[in-house]
Amino acid sequence: MIDVKSLKKEYGERTVLDIDTLEINDGEILAVAGANGSGKTTLLKILAGQIRPTGGELSLPGKKLYMPQQSYAFRGDLIKNVTLGNADREKAVKLLEKLGLSRLADKKAASLSGGELQRLSLCRILARTADLLLLDEPTSACDAKGAELVVEAIKEYRGETRCTVIMTTHSPALAMNAADRLIILNNGKIEADGPPAAVLNEPKTDWAKSFIAGWKI
Ligand SMILES: Nc1ncnc2c1ncn2[C@@H]1O[C@H](COP(=O)(O)OP(=O)(O)OP(=O)(O)O)[C@@H](O)[C@H]1O
Ligand SMILES: [Mg+2]
Repeated sequence: MIDVKSLKKEYGERTVLDIDTLEINDGEILAVAGANGSGKTTLLKILAGQIRPTGGELSLPGKKLYMPQQSYAFRGDLIKNVTLGNADREKAVKLLEKLGLSRLADKKAASLSGGELQRLSLCRILARTADLLLLDEPTSACDAKGAELVVEAIKEYRGETRCTVIMTTHSPALAMNAADRLIILNNGKIEADGPPAAVLNEPKTDWAKSFIAGWKI
């Protein structure tokens, strides 16, 4: 289980993350939503070990894989970008196919469109094994079909590995279709928490009601 207690991140006078408690069960897919600047990436980076919290306690599994908000390409073709010299080539080919990229497999990764590059970044992650996947807005650049492929791939990976997945998103569809649980951050605090359908359809606070009303569905 992932256990977060009294987690805080401050920049100068400003507190950008302030989480009392967050417990995430093994194998759970958790979506984290919230406006720009609400602390989603900060939370993921802390869990990934990329930045240090100002305070708090964290209990995390050892093997984590982190997909940053900004996708990037390495030199070389797509296959090389997925295997990076160590992952199984056959697995890479299968993943590229699953994410709708097989016809581009021998093209240079630098030539990909934004949505293609994002799906390539996901392939790079899914070619490896971990106990925890941290995905920062994995469908933000994808069209509807691309987002569907991402949802299927994430669910399949979780089904096969039983890993825990934490992903941030601005997409209610991603939360509804892929996540077991949805939390919404408001200025670094958890304002809503529950099964996605319940959070979206029966918001418990006035703030949550108004956030969800403005969240495009
Ligand atoms: N190094 C830093 N120094 C000062 N402030 C920072 C720093 N990094 C992040 N912040 C601030 O922390 C807040 C939370 O940022 P974060 O990237 O977590 O937001 P987010 O919820 O991921 O937003 P988005 O939806 O735009 O990706 C923002 O207001 C940001 O400006
Ligand atoms: Mg972010």
